[in-house]
Amino acid sequence: MLEVEFCNIKMKNPTILAAGIMGSTAASLNWVARSGAGAIVTKSFGMEANPGYPNPTTVEVTGGFINAIGLSNPGVESFKGELERLDRQVPAVASIYGADPQEFQDIAAQIDGMVDMIELNVSCPHASGGCGASVGQDPQLTAQVIKTVKKVTKNPVIVKLTPNVTDIVEIALNCQNAGCDAITLINSVGPGMRIDVETAQPILHNKFGGLSGPAIKPIALRCVYEVYEAVNVPIMGVGGITDYKDAVEFLFAGASCIQIGTAVYYEGIDVFRKICEGLERYMGRKGIKSVSEMVGRAH
Ligand SMILES: Cc1cc2nc3c(=O)[nH]c(=O)nc-3n(C[C@H](O)[C@H](O)[C@H](O)COP(=O)(O)O)c2cc1C
Repeated sequence: MLEVEFCNIKMKNPTILAAGIMGSTAASLNWVARSGAGAIVTKSFGMEANPGYPNPTTVEVTGGFINAIGLSNPGVESFKGELERLDRQVPAVASIYGADPQEFQDIAAQIDGMVDMIELNVSCPHASGGCGASVGQDPQLTAQVIKTVKKVTKNPVIVKLTPNVTDIVEIALNCQNAGCDAITLINSVGPGMRIDVETAQPILHNKFGGLSGPAIKPIALRCVYEVYEAVNVPIMGVGGITDYKDAVEFLFAGASCIQIGTAVYYEGIDVFRKICEGLERYMGRKGIKSVSEMVGRAH
């Protein structure tokens, strides 16, 4: 009942671990896979090891979290070891970032065949040094990244977009024209900040970070809804999904499957199983036979 096919990759259900939520090790990704997720996305990794920002990197706010991890990761060479240790019970998506199109391409070439799909992170709201949201806000650069990566990989290429743009539809269409196989909407929103009232200092070491969690769900849902009307490629919806009703809303808006991030902090890794059980009960109640029947119903 919950099986979906995304870019010709079969998944047992439409719930996917979002990028960056469970650290960088195969052990934690395998644990999520065993807990019921239909697929997993790795933490974003780049060419070289990156220590990221010093602590504090995460702070809770009403309706979610602000994080400025700074894309900390051990670099592609070391990450390949982790990819080899994935037990591949469920499809694996590698999230990669680069300083320029060439770097994206080099990383994609190095991991070709080690995963089922590649997600291009052109949308981190708090990264520095030529990567991050600055790429995703530049239509030409994003198109170039997609085209260069497509040349070297057989894996479906998904591009993950930032909502921090004037016209998300224009950017999405541009990605489709550049040849991406799918689109993930959205990365965290912002940047935002919090200030400690005792010390009068910003709480995050980086001062600013990306907002995630239920607070961003309406924005993510609107992005999915708008982009679905304009593109033909499938969409992964992400942003504040915490229970099965959130998942249903994203499917109705036009997502073919959904990623879950911050809700793992609230609900634990059981969140995948809980959302799937809720979805099954809902579909039974409504006489819906397959997830694909739900996709885009709100249009
Ligand atoms: C602690 C943390 C780390 C994240 N790291 C990444 C990352 O490495 N790459 C990426 O593309 N998105 C990253 N994200 C963004 C999430 O994948 C997701 O797009 C965003 O949090 C919105 O979904 P949510 O509200 O379900 O968390 C991160 C989010 C959080 C909270």
